[in-house]
Amino acid sequence: RNVMSQGRPVKVTVTGAAGQIGYALLFRIASGHLLGPDVPVRLSLLEIPQAVKAAEGTAMELDDCAFPLLAGIDITDDANRAFDGANVGLLVGARPRTKGMERGDLLQANGGIFGPQGRAINDHAADDVRVLVVGNPANTNALIARSHAPDVPADRFTAMTRLDHNRALSQLAARLDVPVTAITKMTIWGNHSATQYPDLYNAEVNGKIAAEQVDEAWLRDTFIPTVAKRGAAIIEARGASSAASAANAALNHVHDWFNGTPEGDWTSVALSSDGSYGVPEGLISSFPAVSRGGEWHIVQGLPVNPFSRERIDTSVRELIEERDAVKELGLI
Ligand code: NAD
Ligand code: LMR
Repeated sequence: RNVMSQGRPVKVTVTGAAGQIGYALLFRIASGHLLGPDVPVRLSLLEIPQAVKAAEGTAMELDDCAFPLLAGIDITDDANRAFDGANVGLLVGARPRTKGMERGDLLQANGGIFGPQGRAINDHAADDVRVLVVGNPANTNALIARSHAPDVPADRFTAMTRLDHNRALSQLAARLDVPVTAITKMTIWGNHSATQYPDLYNAEVNGKIAAEQVDEAWLRDTFIPTVAKRGAAIIEARGASSAASAANAALNHVHDWFNGTPEGDWTSVALSSDGSYGVPEGLISSFPAVSRGGEWHIVQGLPVNPFSRERIDTSVRELIEERDAVKELGLI
């Protein structure tokens, strides 16, 4: 069932709506960049109580844009209300790591957010709900949310590696002095973290394998670390983590989920593994994926050379460790 064929506004719930990604995201959702230029949306903003007032301020600004597609805005600090009837859930709000916080503390704090939100989605969202987790650690937060939503098909829970994908396109395009549109079949494998693996052995530039058009040292020592550590580089330069580019990637992800990926190309999506490419079933890991009929499908049968295998395995191992840690904490 395609929500867009129903003719009534699509309900889009955004968590962390008063944050910096929220501010970069909401205006573009309301102007049609999430689902398409003909699809009316109703926004539902979820925030913590202290930030509801700021979300109300953003809603005032949304009103002041008089967006023709914006059918209404609800603001709440109650997840059950926020996800009531939601067709799309953008889970952006998360607990950032602060000074003195151990990894376990971070996972625990996020478990306290994504567990209840997963449950609220399970109990209140529309049957066709589709969820994108942006808040970090995105893959494992998506795993936590999914595990609290046993009645929602597992393939409706995804995490974002589209920003990493776009970063990889941009770095490669700059290196080869080609437009980003010359590049197809880019893949980010694994975790949205510094262990992620951007794969140039399957990517193509003007229809030819990308890895054959760059030297190996650049691929290994510059390209991979630049893409994988770009998030940290942005924080270093901007004094805050990426916001507009993250919002843009979230729009790209959901837009393609609803409208399909172009023929002859694919994109990168962290989704529940079906065991493909040796990634343990159920782990939320990034794969090459196409979207057809509102569903993601992992692209099968791509060659994985030993260099790629080692890197995919490293990132997947990290995801397994995160999964085991949240299991240990009783969060899944
Ligand atoms: P931010 O701190 O500016 O905003 C986060 C917002 O979430 C805050 O307004 C906060 O009040 C809210 N929030 C916290 N707990 C909440 C809860 N339980 N329910 C609802 N809202 C809640 O952060 P930001 O810059 O907007 O980034 C948000 C998240 O996205 C961070 O975890 C960041 O690391 C992550 N991120 C992911 C990617 C990616 O590619 N996957 C890229 C950039 C940022
Ligand atoms: C990014 O990739 O820009 C973010 O995930 C970085 C971060 O740690 O918030």
